[in-house]
Amino acid sequence: MISTADPQTVANQSSLELLNRSVADELHAVHQYMYFHFHLDDQGLGPLARLFKQTAIVEMGHIEKLAERILFLKGEVEMAAAESVATITDPSAMLAKAAEMEQGSARDYNRAAQQCAALADAGTQHIFEQLVADEESHLDRFEKQLDHIKRFGPSYLALQSFGALNEPPGAE
Ligand SMILES: [Fe+2]
Ligand SMILES: [Fe+2]
Repeated sequence: MISTADPQTVANQSSLELLNRSVADELHAVHQYMYFHFHLDDQGLGPLARLFKQTAIVEMGHIEKLAERILFLKGEVEMAAAESVATITDPSAMLAKAAEMEQGSARDYNRAAQQCAALADAGTQHIFEQLVADEESHLDRFEKQLDHIKRFGPSYLALQSFGALNEPPGAE
């Protein structure tokens, strides 16, 4: 019989808490980025709108990975966003908010990976390590856009709205 003091059960519980906290963080990112997407699209800023939509889809994939692991560990997926959406409609402020969110996620997932290593849960650790790499690449894309706006001013966004850029900014 497994008691609550069983080391493996304790380890699973800790991993499940980290995983569910991350699901909440990812849900917040999906909501926030789709909100940005709708508003940028409405403002005629297609490429930047697409960047946020594409990133939201990646974050949704993160939820799937986390949820699969939660179910493998016999937990329940808690589908509640960590925060409500910030009603930001200025493109630069959106990018600053998104960069801050990605930085926070990368930091949290790095820490979670270390905690999972200490719990001898290499499977969950590996998922968090993959997430760190993804969030850092999102951070890089958002920071590049912020940098372009700073360097080229409002004309950079105006060119986007005239369709001068066919590809979403930051796309490889
Ligand atoms: Fe994510
Ligand atoms: Fe991200």
